[in-house]
Order: sequence, then structure tokens, then C-alpha cells
Amino acid sequence: MNHTVFARRQIASIRRTVGRGTAISALSGGVDSAVTTVLAHRALGKRLKVMFIDDGLMRENEPEEVRQAFAKLGIRVRIIRAAGKFFRALKGITDPEKKRKAFRHTFYKVFKQAVRELGARFLVQGTIAADIVETKKGVKTQHNVLDQIGIRAKDRYGYATIEPLKTLYKPDVRKVGRAVGLPQAMYQRMPFPGPGLACRCLGEVNPKRIAVVRRACRIVEEETARVKKFQAFGVLLADRATGVTKDGRRRFGDIVAVRCVDSEKAIHATATTLPWKMLMRIQARITREIPSVTKVVYDLTPKPPSTIEYI
Ligand code: XMP
Repeated sequence: MNHTVFARRQIASIRRTVGRGTAISALSGGVDSAVTTVLAHRALGKRLKVMFIDDGLMRENEPEEVRQAFAKLGIRVRIIRAAGKFFRALKGITDPEKKRKAFRHTFYKVFKQAVRELGARFLVQGTIAADIVETKKGVKTQHNVLDQIGIRAKDRYGYATIEPLKTLYKPDVRKVGRAVGLPQAMYQRMPFPGPGLACRCLGEVNPKRIAVVRRACRIVEEETARVKKFQAFGVLLADRATGVTKDGRRRFGDIVAVRCVDSEKAIHATATTLPWKMLMRIQARITREIPSVTKVVYDLTPKPPSTIEYI
């Protein structure tokens, strides 16, 4: 496929669909929504309002880094601070699918309000083919797949969705990103799930537990920065394991799983063969920098039978 031609067609199509109206783009910091936002900005210019919902479930410094990266492209990003709403919605929920549904519901409620305030009738979002395939198959509830599973966003939330990337898989999305002039750091970015760190926090999602996952993800990302891989991150498990302090006291602490996988389209994945020294450094940093952790494990499971994320 010719990615420049694809981009040009999508830009024209967005322009036709939105007409003289305005649209909102749901930027998350990931590759898919970044590419979508650039396409929509090319189509609509100032008539595209770019929102970034700070749901409290992002990686370290993510909202600010995204805002600055897009400012360099001439695109203004409005950050909506909504962490409290998401944590309230997720409080007490431990079931993975219920978590995803609570996230999705809150996400659309926050957006509905933003769309209404701006008078926009369209939401441009970065749904890709893998999201649709997996949601339809029932693998998981993607927060951004609605119309495909029979929930009409227009009826329920008051706006229509435009999904310019919905026929593409990740490698082509990256190539479209390059074709429209996104900086390499952005189109080569590691995928990050819509529900954010909630996908990496088994058990209850609350600010304290999310802080543990956030730090673990940062450490894993830093230590594997030079490794060729599809994704690398840390996960906080729901159980606890014994540990022992330097002065010999036993205690129960958190368990962090390290996940690093090779994959092309995220449909299949295998654990990356990381150097032993690197794994040791990762565990040493996690236990030193996150005092609540007493155990670090490396996840070897391929997809299938596992998934890449933990919920
Ligand atoms: P799984 O865990 O199902 O993930 O093997 C496959 C790929 O999709 C990402 N992922 C998501 N992306 N919204 C997204 O935008 C989601 O709800 C979501 N869940 C998983 C995951 O990071 C991996 O790259």
C-alpha cells in the first residue's frame, strides 16, 4: 500500500464528513491516536480541537510530554484533568472486564461533556484493525470500539465517531505516521493501551497502586530502551508475597511482573530473550526504588495462550 496516498484519502474523507463543523480528537499519547490527530488536523486545521484526558493512568510525565511534542507540530492540546473521576469509577473493582467497562464508560462521559462544551458533532479516534478484531472476538473490551459491537455512539453519547485507521494494523499505522511527518520518536513509540496503567494493575486500581505500576513501567522502559522489542512494561499483581528486611523481619509485599514481548501486529507475541544481566538490573532497581515490592518475576508466556497486557 502507498501510505502517502492513504493519508491523502483519509484527510479528504475527514474533511467531507465534518463539512463546516468542528471535531474533537481523542489524543492518548500512543501511536494510533497521534497519527489520527495529525490526519484530522491536516483536514480541519483549527476546527479540530485536540483533547488529552489525563485519567491518572498515564505513564510518568506523559500528559506534559504529549502536549509539548504536539506544540512542536503546531497542534494545541487541551489537557482535561479527570483522574478523580476515573479513580472513583474504578474504586473497588477487581474484575478485569468490569474495569475495562468502567474505564470506557468514564472515558465517554468525560468526552461527551467536552464535545458538548465545544459544540462538536464528531469524535475522531485512533481505533485500528486489531482493536476491532479482538473486541468482536470477545478477547477484550477495547475502550474505543463501540459502533462495531452495536453501541451507537451517536445515540448514546451524542456524537458520531470517525476512525480513519480502522482498516490498518500497527506496522502500517507507523508508516502512515512517517508519511505525514510525525517525528520518529512518536511513530516508533511503544503501544500503550487506552485504559492505561489500569491494564497493568491487577486487583483494585487506586492512586497508590498505580504509582507502583508507573514506577515499575518507567524502570522497565529505561532498562530495555536499547533492546529491539514490541512492548516492555511492569505489572502489579493482585497477590502479595513474603519478603525479608535487612534486619531479618518478615513482611508481605507487592509482586511485580516484568513483561517484554516481540510481536508484529499484537495478535501473536513471544517473550523477548533479554540478557540475564539486564533482568537482574531490572529486579534490583524495582526492589530498591519501590520499597513495597518483595518479588519480581519475568513473564515468559507467549500470546496465545496469554495476552500481552494483564487484563
Ligand atoms: P493484548 O493485551 O490484548 O494487547 O494482547 C494487544 C495490544 O493492544 C494493546 N491494548 C490496547 N490498546 N486500547 C488500546 O488502544 C485498549 O483497550 C487496549 N488493550 C490492549 C496492548 O498494549 C497491545 O499492544
